[in-house]
Amino acid sequence: MTKPAQPQSVAADGTEHKHLPVLLVETIQALSISKKDGAYVDATFGRGGHCRAMLAELSDRGRVIALDRDPQAIAVAENLRIVEPRLQVFQARFAELDTVVASLGLTGAIQGVLMDVGVSSPQLDDPDRGFSFRHAGPLDMRMDPSQGVDAAQWLNSADEEVIANIIWRYGEERRSRRIAKAIVAARPLHTTEALAEVVAACVPRGNTKSAKHPATKTFQAVRIFINDELQELQRGVQAAFESLAVGGRLAVISFHSLEDRQVKQAFKALSQPPVLPRRLPVQNSQTVVPGRLVSGPIRAGQSELDSNPRARSATLRVIERVA
Ligand SMILES: C[S@@+](CC[C@H](N)C(=O)[O-])C[C@H]1O[C@@H](n2cnc3c(N)ncnc32)[C@H](O)[C@@H]1O
Repeated sequence: MTKPAQPQSVAADGTEHKHLPVLLVETIQALSISKKDGAYVDATFGRGGHCRAMLAELSDRGRVIALDRDPQAIAVAENLRIVEPRLQVFQARFAELDTVVASLGLTGAIQGVLMDVGVSSPQLDDPDRGFSFRHAGPLDMRMDPSQGVDAAQWLNSADEEVIANIIWRYGEERRSRRIAKAIVAARPLHTTEALAEVVAACVPRGNTKSAKHPATKTFQAVRIFINDELQELQRGVQAAFESLAVGGRLAVISFHSLEDRQVKQAFKALSQPPVLPRRLPVQNSQTVVPGRLVSGPIRAGQSELDSNPRARSATLRVIERVA
């Protein structure tokens, strides 16, 4: 396979947003797109880097069904669809993947699904989305700003203990209690800057050049909670696997240990026979496993790391449906 071109795209608002797709060559190889006329799903269109590379592998009769929950990503996908009839676009969450696939009559007939989870660079880089402590903006963090409560509404109303638990669980932040207390004392918070300042006052800044910003873990935790990311991932992996044809593959790229642990466990449950109590007779149907791990975890090589620091934390796992 030749190396796919790196995409640049123009969002609906006319701003040029770049997103370098991670592990692009590895992902396309892992999906093993051998059914050129088949239907594939890109559940995380983003700016379409992986999607374009998937389309490039297909014949005129193949298609990619693209999903994203973010309206800006969907606007870019709709623009691509104007010149790419093999693309179908749906604004949907992972948890709705099975419904979308069923609406097309393709349950059990999908040849490959990609989930490149987490946030895109355009989401992080757009101050108005409120995802990053690096840009001053409203404290929002919703991937779909038309749904649910934003980060400010939640942080300004939740109990201190609930906030502490979320920062602990989804940020693995040791100082979660101190940070939650400071957040409650500083309420109301309306901007990313305000939250970053409150957190920074509770967490000593590392003094090495590579040290992370003190608010990194708290921002990650709030974002995961606001978008229900881990539950979405769990439901999405199940829905994606169930949509596959025998021989079809599911590739998931995750960006932090909480996500990767969840993918690893879900793949293990799909690819290993359940451990049954010794006394019970084992029936054949109980030893049939529906999946086969295609490889161990795949990580970016040095040349990708040199050109795309975001790839540092990316892990690709792939499972194939065998039954
Ligand atoms: C890392 S980016 C994907 C980038 C894409 N592969 C590319 O090459 O441009 C992740 C995308 O997944 C979307 N996303 C994250 N969680 C989602 C979910 N639960 N349901 C649907 N889309 C989701 C985000 O809105 C974001 O656009």
